[in-house]
Amino acid sequence: MNHFSYRDGVLHAEEVDLAALADKVGTPFYCYSTATLERHYRVFAEAFSKDTLIAFSVKANGNLAVLKTLARQGAGADVVSGGELRKALKAGIPASKIVFSGVGKTKVELCAALQAGIYQFNVESEPELRALDETAASLGLRAPVAFRINPGVDAKTHAKISTGHSETKFGIPWSRARAVYAEAAKLKAIEIVGVDVHIGSQITDLAPFEAAFRRVVELVGQLRGDGHAIGRIDLGGGLGVPYRADNEPPPLPHAYGAMVREAVDSTHARLILEPGRMIAANAGILVARVIYVKKGEGKTFLIVDAGMNDLVRPAMYDAFHDIVAVREPGPDAERVRYDVVGPVCETSDIFAADRDLPRLKDGDLVAILSAGAYGAVMSSAYNARPPAAEVLVRDGDWAVVRPRMDDDALLATDRIPGWLEA
Ligand code: LLP
Repeated sequence: MNHFSYRDGVLHAEEVDLAALADKVGTPFYCYSTATLERHYRVFAEAFSKDTLIAFSVKANGNLAVLKTLARQGAGADVVSGGELRKALKAGIPASKIVFSGVGKTKVELCAALQAGIYQFNVESEPELRALDETAASLGLRAPVAFRINPGVDAKTHAKISTGHSETKFGIPWSRARAVYAEAAKLKAIEIVGVDVHIGSQITDLAPFEAAFRRVVELVGQLRGDGHAIGRIDLGGGLGVPYRADNEPPPLPHAYGAMVREAVDSTHARLILEPGRMIAANAGILVARVIYVKKGEGKTFLIVDAGMNDLVRPAMYDAFHDIVAVREPGPDAERVRYDVVGPVCETSDIFAADRDLPRLKDGDLVAILSAGAYGAVMSSAYNARPPAAEVLVRDGDWAVVRPRMDDDALLATDRIPGWLEA
């Protein structure tokens, strides 16, 4: 459920009229709904015991205002870089609720996270373990560590967002897990606290999760038998969201929660979850204006002012995003089959192919839905296009939470070397 709906013939975000907002902030812009973010967080959190740490995956949406909204609901953070760590801390998420994932944490990043006193490092390799041990020792600290174990499970999601099978760069191979824990137990500045797993993203079936979690439980038993104090299990993120109304909806959080409890409760470990998309995707939309309607050979192109530099998911993962007109079409409105495309000079700059929409003309507004996760965070300035602004709505209030970079600022990012000055 989300809080984007038509009122008086215009799409609204909560109480805010998006056509009026577009006139004020200019297009394209991302618009996030506070009520939707809060609701998604609450529904997810309620599916688990109070003691569970819900660490929002900052990579899905790192806007400080979004993070702060979630922090106020009690969210922790799953971060994958020093930059995300700084963002999470700045948004008021306590270090005691932050976990640090990722295959390539540098010593500088490890040092920052140790000094901040984060809750857990999800370590993905032996070299990383050694780097963490050395860094912690040099600071006179001990690092709380869970190893991310690759359970060798095929998550049956898009190949580019599947991480749990044995040929990805992620995690410690299942067969080496016990040896790596044994090695870690010998290191003075390492404190073994748990096991971590993450098998992929936009997973719409409980079966691969369950298979992975059962393997984790088996491993926890073995590790405890080996003498390790495994008090926490981090189950990663990955529960999918409904991107299209005509597909079977993915399992709801409470079904996911019930499956998780069934699979792992016997361990009595503290659970950590790292949802990203589930919280943010349907809490955000990308609003764009039609620049031209162009007739092609057998195709009609709706050329809008957002491009793949603003929302790369369709180009990168063939992702489907629903698109609606901001002005509500009447029940008898004529429908036209469009390719909805951006202005970027790439064939892949296409948001939707052969999509039936009400007839639109230059200047009309469209909303690309379910764009709150992996949207703005993945934007770039490709084609020297300043990425879309971001706006957060709360009831009838709104605020620009990231302005569009102005053209001068975009130019100012480059430097001319001395030999070209003269
Ligand atoms: N934890 C870890 C270790 C992850 O790698 C990810 C996502 C998450 C949690 C959050 O997963 P979620 O709950 O959002 O599924 N850009 C792609 C998605 C990449 C996901 C990367 N890892 C997309 O737009 O579909």
